[in-house]
Amino acid sequence: MRINIEEITEKDRSSVLHPFTQLKDFATGKLGEPTIVETGKGIRIQDAHGNQLIDGFAGLYCVNVGYGRAEVAEAISRQAYRLAYYHSYAAHTTDELAILSDRLVRMAPGKMSKVFYGMSGSDANETQAKLVWYYNNLRGKPNKKKIISRDRGYHGCSVVSGSMTGMSFYHDHMDLPLPQIVHTGAPHYYWGATPGETEREFSARRAAELDQLIVRLGPDNVGAFIGEPVLGTGGITPPPEGYWEAIQAVLKKHDVLLIVDEVITGFGRTGSMFGSQHYGIEPDLITVAKGLTSAYFPLSGAIVGEKV
Ligand SMILES: Cc1ncc(COP(=O)(O)O)c(C=O)c1O
Repeated sequence: MRINIEEITEKDRSSVLHPFTQLKDFATGKLGEPTIVETGKGIRIQDAHGNQLIDGFAGLYCVNVGYGRAEVAEAISRQAYRLAYYHSYAAHTTDELAILSDRLVRMAPGKMSKVFYGMSGSDANETQAKLVWYYNNLRGKPNKKKIISRDRGYHGCSVVSGSMTGMSFYHDHMDLPLPQIVHTGAPHYYWGATPGETEREFSARRAAELDQLIVRLGPDNVGAFIGEPVLGTGGITPPPEGYWEAIQAVLKKHDVLLIVDEVITGFGRTGSMFGSQHYGIEPDLITVAKGLTSAYFPLSGAIVGEKV
């Protein structure tokens, strides 16, 4: 049965709070009709008028294996019949939880140890901040709490992750960023290089700026640095030559943890299984989401390295 487009449009206009949508213009019809996406198969989606569209963005870069995979739908259905839910508090587990975690720890870059799950990339990055703060409390470094992220970085839109995000329109009118989150220069050569500067020189300059920022804040006040292997929402831009090598040297020098946000770059999107492997990054903590389930259901993870 086809849906009733007028009815859905009316219900949507009156009751859905759409992100990144001008509410008044949407309510008054100035933005036109909502796009009602009805079905998906492979790389294509179909709207309620029957138009087939190539979904170049794969949802919000999350449907890594494409739409309409019967084997995924069947696995979800089987599990719902067998055991729809159980928690993992107080040493409770399920076979699938243990098997997935073991697989993630073994496939992830660096020396990983455990996975803590969430429901979105944003909440996994909130977890990462808490892990950094907890870790430094246990080490007797109660002030080593600031987290540095990059201008134009994107790490989500909740309170801590929204603060990590380095674009002002995620902060304006929302009392963000939190004071514990500090920003450094974007790894964007095309927009940021000075005339005649090579990619390597630009990377070295960004690393020197990071070094100066850590020294200014005090290394005993800086707990972690967070970055995406490839700048995502802030530009979809690969790092300039030598960038990660130079940045990691500064972090090591000041005993600052590296959180690598693999929410987009995880699970094959760069051609390597993780962006870290592609760019020679050794994470202390890794954030995964999106491609982990290809968005067939919400799941994220904070993968915790041996060191932490
Ligand atoms: C690199 C990165 N981190 C975190 C997030 C936030 O994930 P979510 O939208 O699942 O909260 C995103 C979302 O696009 C992202 O691109």
